Amino acid sequence: MNLFFAIVAVFVALLGFVVFFGAPYVPSKSKELRRAFTKLYKLSGNDVLVDIGSGDGIVLRVASECGARAVGYEINPLLVLISKFLSRRDEKVSVKQANVWKARFPNETSVVYVFGESRDIKKIVRLVQTEASRLSHDLVVISYGFKLPDITVSKKLDAHFMYIISPLQAQ
Ligand SMILES: C[S@@+](CC[C@H](N)C(=O)[O-])C[C@H]1O[C@@H](n2cnc3c(N)ncnc32)[C@H](O)[C@@H]1O
Repeated sequence: MNLFFAIVAVFVALLGFVVFFGAPYVPSKSKELRRAFTKLYKLSGNDVLVDIGSGDGIVLRVASECGARAVGYEINPLLVLISKFLSRRDEKVSVKQANVWKARFPNETSVVYVFGESRDIKKIVRLVQTEASRLSHDLVVISYGFKLPDITVSKKLDAHFMYIISPLQAQ
C-alpha cells in the first residue's frame, strides 16, 4: 500500500510540474543516444556536454560513458533527486536544480543537448546563441526529435540533428 501511495505521489509531483511549467518529462532513448554520441558527434574526454532540461539524467550518463563531462539543468526537484541518485558514483556527471533560462553554462561547454517543447525552440536557440557569444567559442548543438529554425543542419542520424552555433560577433 505504501508503494502505491509513493507511486501516486511521484505521479502527482510530475504532473504538477507539467501543469505549472508546461514541461513534460519524456526521456531520450539510451540506444539512440549511444549512436548519436559515437556516430553523429563523437564525444571524448575533451568535451563538456550541457543538457537543457536533463530529466532523469540519461543523456548525462550516456555522455559520461562516452568519456565527456556532463552537466544537467533540471527544474523539477524530483527528477533532480532521481538523476543525482542514478549518477551518484559518476564524478563526471553533475545535475543542478535550476531554471535553464537563467543558467550560465560552464566555460568549457562544447556540446549542448536539446530535447524540449517545440514551442520553446526559438528561446532555446537564443539561449545557446547568447552562451556561445558569452563564451566566445562555437557550440555543437544536438537536438532530438525536432529541427532548429533558420539554422543549417550539419548532420542527421535517426531522430538526432547536429548544428554548429557560433558566437554572434564571429558571424
Ligand atoms: C523532454 S524532457 C527531456 C529530458 C532529457 N533531456 C532527455 O533527453 O532524456 C524535458 C525536461 O526539461 C525539463 N524542463 C522544462 N523546462 C525547464 C526549465 N525551464 N529549466 C530546466 N528544466 C526544464 C522538464 O522538467 C523535463 O524533465
